Amino acid sequence: MKLKDSLFTRRKFLNTLIGGWLTALGATIIQPVIKFIFPPYREPEEVILPAADYELPGPNSFKTFPWGSKPGILKRNDDGSLTAFVAVCTHLDCNVTYLPEQRKFYCACHDGWYDENGINIAGPPPRPLRRLDVIVEGEKIIIRRKGESA
Ligand code: FES
Repeated sequence: MKLKDSLFTRRKFLNTLIGGWLTALGATIIQPVIKFIFPPYREPEEVILPAADYELPGPNSFKTFPWGSKPGILKRNDDGSLTAFVAVCTHLDCNVTYLPEQRKFYCACHDGWYDENGINIAGPPPRPLRRLDVIVEGEKIIIRRKGESA
């Protein structure tokens, strides 16, 4: 049995084909514009903090600092040295906080825990927190990506 009128006409086929092509062309043009307006995250090489603003009173004290568009945590250790971490969970990039009374980092998104050295100890985080190099030079605290010394 032959249908009197086809459900999928030649015109409809061509309109779908041209519409799809125009949509793909539009996406090709718009994608770089969106990338320009919202650039992807670029991690800084280093961050220089004024030491006066980041005085840590004693062992186990901490302050946050901006690491590009992400937070960082600068922590004073028991021996007086400083350690810096990128305060972003290694599970799904939520921000982590340091809980000095428990000496642990905590990610509230999925109940992830890290010890005071940034080692993942409980919950879903698959890797330790990223550590950064800390160099104190006079009135400056220089924080660099691990292993990149000037
Ligand atoms: S994002 Fe931190 S535990 Fe899932």
